[in-house]
Amino acid sequence: MPLLEIKNLHVSVEGRQILNGLDLTVNKGEVHAIMGPNGSGKSTLAHVMAGKPGYEATQGQILLDGEEVLTTQPDERAAKGLFLAFQYPMEIPGVATITFLRTAMNAQRKKRGQPEFTVPEFQKRLNEVAGKLEIDREMLRRGVNVGFSGGEKKRNEILQMALLEPKLCVLDETDSGLDIDALKIVSEGVNRLRSPERAMVVITHYQRLLSHIVPDVVHVLSRGRIVRTGGKELALELEAKGYAQYQDEAALAS
Ligand SMILES: Nc1ncnc2c1ncn2[C@@H]1O[C@H](COP(=O)(O)OP(=O)(O)OP(=O)(O)O)[C@@H](O)[C@H]1O
Ligand SMILES: [Mg+2]
Repeated sequence: MPLLEIKNLHVSVEGRQILNGLDLTVNKGEVHAIMGPNGSGKSTLAHVMAGKPGYEATQGQILLDGEEVLTTQPDERAAKGLFLAFQYPMEIPGVATITFLRTAMNAQRKKRGQPEFTVPEFQKRLNEVAGKLEIDREMLRRGVNVGFSGGEKKRNEILQMALLEPKLCVLDETDSGLDIDALKIVSEGVNRLRSPERAMVVITHYQRLLSHIVPDVVHVLSRGRIVRTGGKELALELEAKGYAQYQDEAALAS
């Protein structure tokens, strides 16, 4: 059974149809890249998977491990192993990052029937992961994402992901705003999480990220549906030729 199966997904935002008939199948162990022009619906896909209010699926299914996700609450989705790193991570003033991470991690462990981490256990795990991502401890005492630079926010997303150990990771433009060194650190963080039991969907505009996180499959999203699927060489082709061809194909199909 595929880890993720999206069938004929239609999504409307504020009465406007953004996704129209999107199909996507991702197996365990695979990394899929989704590329596509601005406004084609990539973040909408990530938001509807996360259960963000206002993103209404009017038709179709999203199955995680064969179970419908669309009818469940965001926290249940997370407990089932879905993780999303957002294009624009949210700031939560007044909640220290470290407290947020421990609370999120233990809430999920509890829902999954695993024992909660004690403070020392959590500290140990956090030190390991934060160290590898070169995240400053001082930053973790600040409010979640408050005053973080763009790159620090992205690293913090990967830190969360590493601690939560999800089955399916969806990364929405995790590379945007990263300097060259940070891109490497973040990519290595993502690559460390690659495993036969886990899958990733990486949304990006740039081949550059995909030379670090090498995908098994590349999809082109245009006007709310996947219009082409290929191997990692497709990303190189897109970089050379752009999207003009796909915009036309999607227009003809709709
Ligand atoms: N909350 C919203 N209200 C109104 N329109 C929206 C909303 N969210 C998304 N849209 C519209 O849906 C379309 C798809 O947006 P989306 O953010 O999914 O694109 P994207 O592929 O992620 O683009 P980018 O590459 O620029 O990140 C856009 O035309 C956008 O204006
Ligand atoms: Mg987007």
